[in-house]
Amino acid sequence: MHHFAYRGGELYCEEVPLKKIAGEVGTPVYVYSRRTIVEHYRRLDEAFSGVPHLVCYSVKANSNLSVLSTLASLGAGADIVSGGELFRVLRAGIPPSRIVFAGVGKTEAEMSSALRAGILMFNVESRQEMHVLNEVAARSGLEAPVALRVNPDVDPETHPYIATGLREAKFGVGMREALELYEEARGLSHLRIRGVHQHIGSQITQVEPFRESVSRLRELVLELKARGLEVEYLNIGGGFGIPYRDEEVPYPSDYAEAIGPLVSELGCTLIMETGRMIVGNAGVLLTRVLYLKETGDKRFVVVDAAMNDLLRPALYHAYHEILPVDEKEGADQVVDVVGPVCETGDFLARERALPGVEPGELLAVMSAGAYGFTMSSNYNSRLRPAEVMVDGDRFAVVRERESYEDLIRGERVWP
Ligand code: LLP
Repeated sequence: MHHFAYRGGELYCEEVPLKKIAGEVGTPVYVYSRRTIVEHYRRLDEAFSGVPHLVCYSVKANSNLSVLSTLASLGAGADIVSGGELFRVLRAGIPPSRIVFAGVGKTEAEMSSALRAGILMFNVESRQEMHVLNEVAARSGLEAPVALRVNPDVDPETHPYIATGLREAKFGVGMREALELYEEARGLSHLRIRGVHQHIGSQITQVEPFRESVSRLRELVLELKARGLEVEYLNIGGGFGIPYRDEEVPYPSDYAEAIGPLVSELGCTLIMETGRMIVGNAGVLLTRVLYLKETGDKRFVVVDAAMNDLLRPALYHAYHEILPVDEKEGADQVVDVVGPVCETGDFLARERALPGVEPGELLAVMSAGAYGFTMSSNYNSRLRPAEVMVDGDRFAVVRERESYEDLIRGERVWP
């Protein structure tokens, strides 16, 4: 579901023609539909209304302040993985009492600022980290609320780079080790156990890996409770997948049906760290065709967006649908859509059937709202694109396009 559609032969975001945005803001530009974000959040929230729950939006998917403040206004919490993300979510008005902090490499400085902010809990990923957190909390005279990230060893059947819940992944601790660590945590005076956490992977398009992993987590929670430990929160992580083409994916209600009964009698609040499902289909990357080129038997459409703007195709061979902003019949040209970056891996689509396009025309790279801008870089000293948010018939630039001065900020000419 999203609010990008053709009207009178032109692609719109809600009530705004994408051509108008490209004309005023230039390209490449990310365009987000606020209405889509709101509806996705509400659907997820409502699907789980039968169990006490908190959606901690995963900031890494799209960390623009306008996206965060939109979600804050709906009551969302945040899943963060760095001091930078903490800074953003606080700035956007997400209450600390709804922030959870994950990641295998939290620094003492990051721990300390999150502690002082008063976040809901740290998702601790190793024994050493647990002890360091206890010391940091002791030094500040505070108590650190914690969940242990456990690794339930299930296969989410997704791209290997984004599968995180297998035994060989760097994340979390094994189920057996978890019991020992919880016992150990009990003896640490500046930690307070509050929950159990997992995150098994991303872009998961089946319910089953969740049913299986949450069943395992449930056993662990029951065991911990039997040992007299307090477990108020069961955090199942993120990972709900979205359609990138016309594939069938579960609805929030399907997940709620599978997971709800497993947690309803545990007396825990369910936390979901959903990122992609909320913002993925709420964004497009708008780009302009620069040149057409043929070499041997290959045809290239060279556009002004590149792998530095949207890395997913290059890194994961991820599929993003590409639509001409002027609606066209047929898809009779098989082309590679490539950017200006000096890498053979710089492509947005390979061997893709598209309608014929000409230089100057606009293309929309669809489903780019999650892990799009957040994974962008300045490679080749390219300026990172602008970001625009649309709401109904209004739009605003919510991040300016970078300038050459931005590019060298903080740099010095030797000596
Ligand atoms: N919680 C934790 C601890 C995570 O590591 C992640 C994502 C999430 C939640 C959110 O997962 P989501 O609901 O968005 O699937 N760059 C990759 C995705 C990497 C995901 C990393 N962790 C991509 O472009 O597909």
